[in-house]
Amino acid sequence: MAAQIPSRWAGFGTSIFTTMTEASVQADAINLSQGFPDFDGPPEIKEAAIAAIREGRNQYAPAAGLPPLRAVLAEAARRHSGLTWDPLTETTVFSGATEALFCSILALCEPGDELVTFEPCYDSYAPAVMAAGATLKTVVLRGPDWTFDEDDLRRAVSPRTKALLLNTPNNPTGKVFGRAELEMVARLAHQHGFFVITDEVYEHLVYDGGRHLSLATLPGMRERTVTISSTSKTFSMTGWKIGFAFAPPSLTAALRAVHQFVVFCSATPLQWGMAATGGLGDDYLTRFREEYQERRDFLHGVLVEAGFRCRRPQGTYFIVGEYEGLSPLDDLDFCLWLTREVGVSAIPVSAFCTETGRTRLGGRFIRFAFCKGLPTLQAAADRLRRARFPGS
Ligand SMILES: Cc1ncc(COP(=O)(O)O)c(C=O)c1O
Repeated sequence: MAAQIPSRWAGFGTSIFTTMTEASVQADAINLSQGFPDFDGPPEIKEAAIAAIREGRNQYAPAAGLPPLRAVLAEAARRHSGLTWDPLTETTVFSGATEALFCSILALCEPGDELVTFEPCYDSYAPAVMAAGATLKTVVLRGPDWTFDEDDLRRAVSPRTKALLLNTPNNPTGKVFGRAELEMVARLAHQHGFFVITDEVYEHLVYDGGRHLSLATLPGMRERTVTISSTSKTFSMTGWKIGFAFAPPSLTAALRAVHQFVVFCSATPLQWGMAATGGLGDDYLTRFREEYQERRDFLHGVLVEAGFRCRRPQGTYFIVGEYEGLSPLDDLDFCLWLTREVGVSAIPVSAFCTETGRTRLGGRFIRFAFCKGLPTLQAAADRLRRARFPGS
């Protein structure tokens, strides 16, 4: 008798990022779908990783991460959020924020538990919740301004809620959660006694003088929050997969218990490379944000000119466009059409939603990534300006 592959992963199929990137390559389209830069991060980081390889720093790192990198990460957090994390007992390096999220969810949730998050949301959340045997409950952010109803949030929370997962600045919507919204989450966490996991990978991409606020900085929240971020976005090295998490010692111990059996440790020379970010100074982050704001404004102008209805995102490197007047197609078919016929690829926002969330979004939306050099965005602009849309 043949062994059966368990069916529980079958529903997740191929990630939309793989589908759209493959369609993009086939059509020789400009890939504004998957969120990776078409440029590299600072040369100092690359040189430090190359030097580490040459110097023979090629064996396993400590499971919790190289001590010099943990010290650099904790010091950066102190400067930016004001929170002090002990590099030894409260700071852990993961293979990307994706692994940190996976380990946190597995460490904190078990069968019978519920995890609440906002949708549309990053596509690794639902599979991680499923792997933990827990149930995902969602609160819909409604376009075009991506607000949520406080009652929806209250209804999503129950005595079974073990954790709430909050992504701010938010992918795909570009929303940056404000203080009042975070206070609402904090109040519920205190009332119901659940943990909070925050996904802050776009923490340094907030525009127009706005500020990213870490939930752990709110009174009483540090003790119950796992704060996750990544060097992928901040230092434009998505392929290195060096992420990290800050949490109080008892939560950190729980996360590390999972992490040691998932990967044990992240790539040693790449951790040495990221430790060199300590020498970059805050000018780097100012320039980084200014360059992204310029890219955002450019692509936003182009999309509006082409007929999309969209707002300038407050954060991240994504713009969501509503295409109601441009095409009757559903968002996946419209993205495939755009890729083949116009030569620019994007991601259907419904791919970030549950079945119910999809119907409550408040419109038909697709997401464009602007983490590309201006020449790439200019080439995409030329194609979008020439496009003849089926419904226009
Ligand atoms: C919201 C969000 N969380 C996590 C990640 C994954 O980060 P990493 O590359 O560090 O795994 C991404 C990457 O696109 C993201 O958008």
